[in-house]
Amino acid sequence: MDGVIALVTIGEARHHDTDLQLLADALARAGATVELVNWDDAAADWKRFVAAIVRSPWDYHWRLSEFLAWAERVSQVTQLFNSAEVLRWNTDKVYLRDAVAFGVPVISTEFVSDDVGVDAVALPRDVVVKPTVSAGSNDTLRFIDDEAGARAHIRHVLSIGKKAMVQPYQGCVDERGETGLLFYNGVFSHAFCKAAILSRGESERNGLFVVEEITARTPRVDELAVGDKVIELLASRFGESPLYARIDMVDGDDGKPLVMEIELAEPSMFFHVAEGSADRYANAILARVAA
Ligand SMILES: Nc1ncnc2c1ncn2[C@@H]1O[C@H](COP(=O)(O)OP(=O)(O)O)[C@@H](O)[C@H]1O
Ligand SMILES: [Mg+2]
Repeated sequence: MDGVIALVTIGEARHHDTDLQLLADALARAGATVELVNWDDAAADWKRFVAAIVRSPWDYHWRLSEFLAWAERVSQVTQLFNSAEVLRWNTDKVYLRDAVAFGVPVISTEFVSDDVGVDAVALPRDVVVKPTVSAGSNDTLRFIDDEAGARAHIRHVLSIGKKAMVQPYQGCVDERGETGLLFYNGVFSHAFCKAAILSRGESERNGLFVVEEITARTPRVDELAVGDKVIELLASRFGESPLYARIDMVDGDDGKPLVMEIELAEPSMFFHVAEGSADRYANAILARVAA
């Protein structure tokens, strides 16, 4: 392939994004030339690249409008994946409403955007409160029999200029963990298991990323079906499958999968748990960039 592909990251993420070098190597094996570029590098000349692949701009949730403006700008001069439109939709978890409307099974979620909502929202006795714009479990807290604490945290989230979301804690995650499915151009590639992060109750992690326990997973048929349903939603909404999609789910109390989040911006892909996965992604990138 002629031309250079930019893998988009941010300085602080370069040493933590374990997928970055594996992807760069896989792209090189597939015959591509790549450069790692920080999304906010003012000196970067994006039109030099045949495509820019968003990989790990992991500070975007602290600077969302700047990041989305960057995405718009870059898509004027090169092919950006995923597209600015997809990034805009996906960086605020209110998109879960669209998933529900499409018939995707989603963890029951209430959104709170103002003070009235803080007092009005019904709280399960075991509840997770998180910002709708977040990553790396930032400001994501669990409260057990602590309504005052939960409402105070919702207020805190509003006070930092974000909307809050409230979900019942899904206890099945303690046993089985969370299942993440990776799809490239709408085709399933691999899955992983992420151990529960909030099982020991409330604890705050506001770093760039959280150390997670990741293992390989063979997904169940019902999990794959939920993944396919999300891909169907994305294809109908955006006119094509996104280059990359990660769909995270946990079991509900009835043992059936419920979507926790759809990651179309900067997902870890955990290539190291699935042999050949970085090469599958590299080939998907090249198929898309050439097209
Ligand atoms: N409703 C929930 N039930 C159980 N665990 C949850 C719930 N919501 C979040 N978590 C835990 O918090 C982590 C981070 O939440 P998530 O919604 O995936 O946000 P992020 O975008 O930060 O990854 C999850 O991986 C999971 O372990
Ligand atoms: Mg997550």
